[in-house]
Amino acid sequence: DWSMANFIELEMNKIREQVGDKQVLCALSGGVDSSVVAVLIHKAIGDQLTCMFVDHNLNRKGEVEQVMKTFTEDFDMKVIKIDARERFMSKLEGVSDPEQKRKIIGNEFIYVFDEESAKLKDMDFLAQGTLYTDIIESGTATAQTIKSHHNVGGLPEDMKFELIEPLNTLFKDEVRALGLELGLPEEIVWRQPFPGPGLGIRVLGEITEAKLDILREADYILREEIKNAGLDRDIWQYFCVLPDIRSVGVMGDARTYDYAVGIRAVTSIDGMTSDWARIPWDVLEKISVRIVNEVKHVNRVLYDITSKPPATIEWE
Ligand code: XMP
Repeated sequence: DWSMANFIELEMNKIREQVGDKQVLCALSGGVDSSVVAVLIHKAIGDQLTCMFVDHNLNRKGEVEQVMKTFTEDFDMKVIKIDARERFMSKLEGVSDPEQKRKIIGNEFIYVFDEESAKLKDMDFLAQGTLYTDIIESGTATAQTIKSHHNVGGLPEDMKFELIEPLNTLFKDEVRALGLELGLPEEIVWRQPFPGPGLGIRVLGEITEAKLDILREADYILREEIKNAGLDRDIWQYFCVLPDIRSVGVMGDARTYDYAVGIRAVTSIDGMTSDWARIPWDVLEKISVRIVNEVKHVNRVLYDITSKPPATIEWE
């Protein structure tokens, strides 16, 4: 639409003026905000933008591939993928406390980003997808207000970069409109909120590769069936969790002793309060049947019917 096209034009000019012939670095997460900011800046200055995507092994199935394909192939952008999977896994080994896990994942992200960005020469600017609401929430509207409130992607304050935050006058719905105008795919523009620590707080307790694999497969089926049922826009967040419990089941003539998978699906306006989504029973049945049939080591599916409060949306 006209006003969005106008906004893009104006912002591109501002970005070009601010950056000149210097280089910009942007940490891509695959989320809406960082995706829109990266594409907008790329449209303004092309290959003067380098994006970095840190693979911490805590993403959903297919996500890393989708991000890389979208940005490197469809948008022809420079994206460096950092394979930090082993690093994160070894730091998380034996850790089961949720807040401890969050801290480790957040800190490790900063260390990795710090180390890897230091290897890139001559980066002067750091682009961030800070929104108007982020500035309001954190109190001060200075460039120093780095989005650290419980988000992976909060970056150290002593970094030498100058910040570029072209979305900092926009609300979320405007960012989505901007993303669509810039040609980003709907899966990114309408991606449901995903916590910074990713699947690290959805594998309850200690994280292992095997548990992550189970969760990824079950979660993929849930997402597919919610989408097939046309419910993906109505539900605020829908995902699987893997509690650290196993229970007895039966398969053919044999007794099984395998994991239970939890389904969490909520409606909400802002994530502060939420209600459990009334997913039709036939859809739930399809999801349940597919999960126990298709995901190894799962023999039971649970549906979380608690609102927030008193429960939270995530299980950790
Ligand atoms: P809760 O579980 O507190 O979640 O009801 C509210 C919203 O926040 C997201 N969430 C997080 N986001 N880092 C994030 O970036 C986190 O550590 C984190 N914990 C929860 C959650 O997905 C929901 O949208």
